[in-house]
Amino acid sequence: MGQRFPLFPEQASTVAPMTDNLYFFLIGITVLFSTGIFLAILIFAIKYRRRSEDQVPVQYEGPASLEIIWTLVPLGIVMLMFAWGTHVFFAATTPPRDAIEIYGVGKQWMWKLQHMEGHREINELHVPVGTPVRVTLTSEDVIHSFFVPDFRIKTDVLPGRYTTAWFEATKPGRYRLFCAEYCGTDHSRMIGWIHVMEPQEYQAWLSGGGAEGSMAASGQKLFEDLGCASCHTTDGRGRGPNLVGLFGSPVALAGGGTVKADAAYIRESILAPNAKIVAGYQPIMPTFQGLVTEEGITQLIEHIRSLGQQPGAAPAGQPVQPEAAGTKAGER
Ligand code: CUA
Repeated sequence: MGQRFPLFPEQASTVAPMTDNLYFFLIGITVLFSTGIFLAILIFAIKYRRRSEDQVPVQYEGPASLEIIWTLVPLGIVMLMFAWGTHVFFAATTPPRDAIEIYGVGKQWMWKLQHMEGHREINELHVPVGTPVRVTLTSEDVIHSFFVPDFRIKTDVLPGRYTTAWFEATKPGRYRLFCAEYCGTDHSRMIGWIHVMEPQEYQAWLSGGGAEGSMAASGQKLFEDLGCASCHTTDGRGRGPNLVGLFGSPVALAGGGTVKADAAYIRESILAPNAKIVAGYQPIMPTFQGLVTEEGITQLIEHIRSLGQQPGAAPAGQPVQPEAAGTKAGER
C-alpha cells in the first residue's frame, strides 16, 4: 500500500503483518461497536422520545438470557484480544536462538552499531534478509528509543542497562531508523537507515573491509590493556575469579544467593565490582567506570562469552543450586 496511500509503513519484517492484523482487528471491533451503539442511541432517541410533558416510562425487566448474552459475548471478544495480543507480544519480544547479534549504543545524537565480526557503523546498519537479528542496546547518556516503523519494532534504550530488540527482515531494501524518545536538541536528527541485503550481498559487505577484528578479539585486547588478566587468570588461582566458561552460567555470591552471568551482570561487575562479590573472593577489584566506554564493555562481554566455549574449564564461582535467586535481565 506504501506509495499511493501511505497510511501505513511497509510490512518489512516477520512481526509486521502479525502486529497489523491485530491492529486491524482492534480497529474493526471498535468501529463495529461504536457504530452499533451510536445507531442505537439515535434510533431509540427518536422511537422512544417523550411525547407529552407528564409521560413517565414503564420500568421493563429484560430476560436473564439477554443479560448473559451481552456479558459473555464481550467477554469472549476481550479474551480473544488478550490471547491474540499475548501471542503477538511474545513473538515480538522473544528473539530466536539462532539470531545474529548486533550491539547498539545510543548517544546524543547518533546510533553506534557493532557487528560481531568487528564492523562498526554510525546511523546505519547492514543486515541480511530472512535472518533473525537481535540488537542489544544501551545508552551512553539519556533515554533514547530504537524505532523502525517498517519492522514494527520500538525499544527504549536506557543508560545503565541492556534492552533487546529483534527483527527478521522479509524484503531487501532501505528502512528508516528513528529515535522515538525526546532526547535533546538534535533528537529529530537522530535518524538512520537499516540496509537489508541479500545474504550473499551481506557476506560481500562483511568481507569488504572495515572490520577491526571481531568484537571478541577487540574485547580480548581491551582485557589485556586494562590489566584484567593479571587477576582473572585461567588457572583458578588468581585474585579474581576465572572467567572461562562463565558466560550464561550461574554464579554463587558471597553472602548467599546466585546470579546468572549474563551481559547485565558482567557490565555491573566491570562498573560496580562490589555490587555482587563472587563467593570465595575479596572485594578488591577497582571500578572501571570512566575507563571503558559502553562499546568497550560490550566488547569485553563478547570476549568473556567467547571464553565460554573453551573446554575443560571450571566455571567461576562454583556449583550452584538450580533455583537461582538471580536477577532477571533488565531488572535492577
Ligand atoms: Cu535519541 Cu531522541
